[in-house]
Amino acid sequence: MQSHDLPVLRWGIIATGQISSWFVRDLSLSRQDAKAIHIIQAIGSSTEQKGLKFVETYIPHVSPPPKVYASYEEVYADPHVDIIYIGTPNALHKQNCLDAIKHGKHVLCEKAFAVTSQEAKEIFDSARDKGVFVMEAMWTRFFPLVQTLQRLVHEEKVIGDVHRVFCDLGLDMNLATLKPESRLRSRALGAGTLLDICIYSLTWGLLMLEPRLGDDAEKPRVIAAQTLSEDDEIDIATSVLLHYPSTGKQGILTSTCMAKTPHTFCRIEGTKGYVTVDGVSASAPSAFTYYLKTPEEQSVAGSPMLIKRYEAEHEGFGLFWEADAVAIDIAACKTENGIMPWGETVRVMEMMDEARRQGGARFPQDDNK
Ligand SMILES: NC(=O)c1ccc[n+]([C@@H]2O[C@H](COP(=O)([O-])OP(=O)(O)OC[C@H]3O[C@@H](n4cnc5c(N)ncnc54)[C@H](OP(=O)(O)O)[C@@H]3O)[C@@H](O)[C@H]2O)c1
Repeated sequence: MQSHDLPVLRWGIIATGQISSWFVRDLSLSRQDAKAIHIIQAIGSSTEQKGLKFVETYIPHVSPPPKVYASYEEVYADPHVDIIYIGTPNALHKQNCLDAIKHGKHVLCEKAFAVTSQEAKEIFDSARDKGVFVMEAMWTRFFPLVQTLQRLVHEEKVIGDVHRVFCDLGLDMNLATLKPESRLRSRALGAGTLLDICIYSLTWGLLMLEPRLGDDAEKPRVIAAQTLSEDDEIDIATSVLLHYPSTGKQGILTSTCMAKTPHTFCRIEGTKGYVTVDGVSASAPSAFTYYLKTPEEQSVAGSPMLIKRYEAEHEGFGLFWEADAVAIDIAACKTENGIMPWGETVRVMEMMDEARRQGGARFPQDDNK
């Protein structure tokens, strides 16, 4: 496709934290295989100085440079902005999304999309009323490597029938060294490992245990335990077990902020062998390997043999795949994306609500029901 045939999307970026810096750098990459043209039109920050510094540090080469606003509101109101990217702490997502939608803007909002499933539903209701596109930025689902693995596991059934998936996302955060108002410590901002990182482990469990997205996917039981911080403010470790009653399939999906997960973060077990997945974290996979039982070993207990390893090098962080998908959907006048549809965001949020109900981590939003 010629570049002049590609959809063009003009982005307004809300907040200048870490993930926004990754996102704008990925948007500004010049990629041979880009499926859309991304224009960074505006940046909204708490101060103009912070916004200008953000542009100078991360996207000095972007020409013309984005307009920098000292408020989010001005970005929502900018008529040259098509879509708002929201990179604020979790607890602010709902208000940011509602404000953007009110101005008729499309939205790509960071994960966790909201703090509770109730909040997520309110956002989607509002998007439905306004007829705008909204998506949770669950970028991992858009990695070609993940989609290749889904095809091999579910369509080609290279490891037979999947019966168990392990996935861990652990970071060694040393929370005590962070300020109490940090988004990683503050309950008011939606902190805790469940919403911050267990959401990726859960995503891997769902992607690998369920052949298809949609209404016919069996609803798994959620069994969860959480370890809370000393002041009971937030969860510092969460383990979720997904159990599919009709098949007995299980997902053991975990997070902690007290230890870094090794490079191999996921194992998918099937009747004919298993797959291991590697990467810096469960959010950004870079390789997978599958191992098969040999015919002789299928009758006696034996170690499966390495059959094939897939490695996927790419420039940037890998956030551009979701951005391209969003641009294509918006050009096609869609309001939701088929890989991360609204119902899936709500379903994952409901699982996390249930994990917190059993595990004990509470947010102020739980009292708003
Ligand atoms: N970091 C990651 O690896 C990563 C990966 C994927 C998703 N996410 C998600 O992205 C979101 C942001 O994460 P982040 O790591 O980028 O956070 P961060 O570095 O702490 O940045 C958050 C930004 O939000 C704005 N903000 C507005 N009100 C705030 C408040 N009361 N306290 C703190 N910041 C406030 C600030 O930008 P301004 O001052 O410019 O307004 C701040 O720089 C979260 O939902 C997170 O789950 C993060």
